[in-house]
Amino acid sequence: MLKIQALHKVFNENTINENRVFSNFSFEVKEGDFITIIGSNGAGKSTLLNIISGNIDCDEGIIELNGKDVSNIGEFKRAKLIGRVFQNPSLGVAPNMTILENLSLADNKGKKFGLGLGITKKRIPYYESLLKELDLGLEGKLYNKVNLLSGGQRQALTMLMAVMSEPKLLLLDEHTAALDPKTSIKIMDITKKILKDTNITTMMVTHNLKQAIKTGNRLIMMHRGKILLDVRDKEKSELTTEKLMYLFKDANIKDDLSDRSLLI
Ligand SMILES: Nc1ncnc2c1ncn2[C@@H]1O[C@H](COP(=O)(O)OP(=O)(O)OP(=O)(O)O)[C@@H](O)[C@H]1O
Ligand SMILES: [Mg+2]
Repeated sequence: MLKIQALHKVFNENTINENRVFSNFSFEVKEGDFITIIGSNGAGKSTLLNIISGNIDCDEGIIELNGKDVSNIGEFKRAKLIGRVFQNPSLGVAPNMTILENLSLADNKGKKFGLGLGITKKRIPYYESLLKELDLGLEGKLYNKVNLLSGGQRQALTMLMAVMSEPKLLLLDEHTAALDPKTSIKIMDITKKILKDTNITTMMVTHNLKQAIKTGNRLIMMHRGKILLDVRDKEKSELTTEKLMYLFKDANIKDDLSDRSLLI
């Protein structure tokens, strides 16, 4: 459903800060895949998601979504097909608007004409039922402004909003990293439940190795713009954090060696 072909991306080309993040990077995602993505800092995980969503342009390469080349389609238009949740709980919501207004906005995403006030009112029982499933007591707070909510409540609301317009692809970039451990587990549980119910194809970046092993059907390890490991199903469930740590260390050692060998 997502096909990335021969992707190239260099930041600050021809300057002292030149940074080649992707060289001939190709990658495919199958319909219904729930992929966890791990990798060292600066591996290119967020850049990859930003290129897929159209937030960052690639230099070369083709991004194909559902058989359609979207490489030249702007981020705003692509957003009809792609939902996103970021690390910062404030990014996915309009903090000065009420929960109801936020949900109604998400409900309208991708529609040519917004829902009228009357229709929004008719949708309230539906919104309440969605909020009730989160089990955070938000169903009674439809008229509360979102900036009064906790980070966890905001992130749960953002998850709901991201899947409301039934995107083809959901991109989660460390969406539980800014939360305390207990809330982080709660948001992961909500994430898994929503994805089980909707079966939306998902790519989720995380630094939590245990979470990456436990969640989804496929795991990818990235390092310096390359995929070091790509496993699915049984092979994935047999992974251990120790094995992943070993692969990380091994990759770093190899990099150190090649860097040093350049100096000799
Ligand atoms: N807008 C930008 N301008 C210049 N360089 C950038 C930009 N965005 C990312 N980079 C660089 O690209 C490389 C990959 O960054 P990216 O944010 O994709 O890493 P990451 O794998 O998400 O890391 P982390 O785990 O720290 O979030 C880094 O070296 C980063 O400094
Ligand atoms: Mg990142």
